[in-house]
Amino acid sequence: MQLAEQIKILEFSDLGDERGNLVVVEGSGFDVPFEIKRVFYIYGSDAEVIRGRHANRKTEFVLINVSGTSKVRLDNGFEQEVIELNRPRMGLYLPTMLWKDMYDFSEDSILLVLASEHYDAEEYIRDYDEYIKEIAKL
Ligand code: TYD
Repeated sequence: MQLAEQIKILEFSDLGDERGNLVVVEGSGFDVPFEIKRVFYIYGSDAEVIRGRHANRKTEFVLINVSGTSKVRLDNGFEQEVIELNRPRMGLYLPTMLWKDMYDFSEDSILLVLASEHYDAEEYIRDYDEYIKEIAKL
């Protein structure tokens, strides 16, 4: 499948009013296509830092830059694509088995990550050659 068909750019609704913005993200198929089991956020990463560098066998993710901006380089073993996360209402849905690097964090970047699974180090592929081998078997 083409990389562009594997990922989804989500647009969350803003329920804000004159008091300010209010963005709601509900799991289980409402705004995010999975039950949210884990949330983590990344901030304080310098512009030259590259995070991620892994693929997940079981976990799907939605990435949201709730503040600032960052970039995600995606690789499905055949194609690469760079997506800039630059709006608090924008979500990037990532299915399993995509190689991802997060980088180019702005100083005010807060990258919120919603995950479909609890943390399990065993389901991470942290070696790119291993990733390519596993992709070839699918
Ligand atoms: P890491 O996967 O390197 O973060 P990133 O993908 O953002 O570059 O995680 C850093 C450390 O934190 C590593 O030892 C694993 C641990 N960790 C957890 O224990 N639970 C989690 O949910 C996450 C994302 C990481």
